[in-house]
Amino acid sequence: MKESIKSVLQKLEKRSKLEKLENIEINQEDRMLAITKETGIFYNILLKAIKAKRILEIGTSVGYSTLWFADAMQKNQGKIVTIEQNPSKISRARANFEEASVANQIKVIEGKAIQILEQISESIKSGKKKQFDFAFLDADKEQNFEYFDLILPIVRVGGIIATDNILYPEKFRPLMKKYVEYIKTKPNVQTITLDLGNGEQITIKT
Ligand SMILES: C[S@@+](CC[C@H](N)C(=O)[O-])C[C@H]1O[C@@H](n2cnc3c(N)ncnc32)[C@H](O)[C@@H]1O
Repeated sequence: MKESIKSVLQKLEKRSKLEKLENIEINQEDRMLAITKETGIFYNILLKAIKAKRILEIGTSVGYSTLWFADAMQKNQGKIVTIEQNPSKISRARANFEEASVANQIKVIEGKAIQILEQISESIKSGKKKQFDFAFLDADKEQNFEYFDLILPIVRVGGIIATDNILYPEKFRPLMKKYVEYIKTKPNVQTITLDLGNGEQITIKT
């Protein structure tokens, strides 16, 4: 792993631990709410295995998950598009990407994910942009259904749509159960829930 990425990931892991222990006072909207380290390692391996070159992320926060994705694409210099609505988190994410020396691989788009996804979808359907190899859903959980429907056509066959928080926090479980059932109604997908970190839904477009 590139040293500059490793050191930013370690800094963010310390911060995340403090937030979880509630040892620091912080507003809910400023919390990192990041994936776990094990989840980061898992996606890092998966992205290397599928030789991902184009990644779409919904919910950047301060860029912890994005850095794990960027690390997996150091050899092929693949690109990430990541969407976030909170401007102060975007500033923190951009500073982290600079510090990790991966800013040139990452395009952060500020705004509401649905509207941005509709624009991205248009540019792929009109042939201006290529489909994604991997998409990661980690923003407002209620909208996952709409995100999935917009993302499925813009991921390549053999590409993966992953979703965080399938099992934890437990308050999301009833909603996530419906979401998983919803995915299973779709043709040409295969899907599995992994009991890893907060619970990851891994769906391949077949
Ligand atoms: C769980 S955090 C993302 C954590 C990040 N993926 C990581 O693991 O490091 C969810 C983020 O989604 C953002 N978000 C929530 N709803 C959104 C929306 N409708 N459009 C864009 N961003 C949104 C929040 O501001 C928050 O930073």
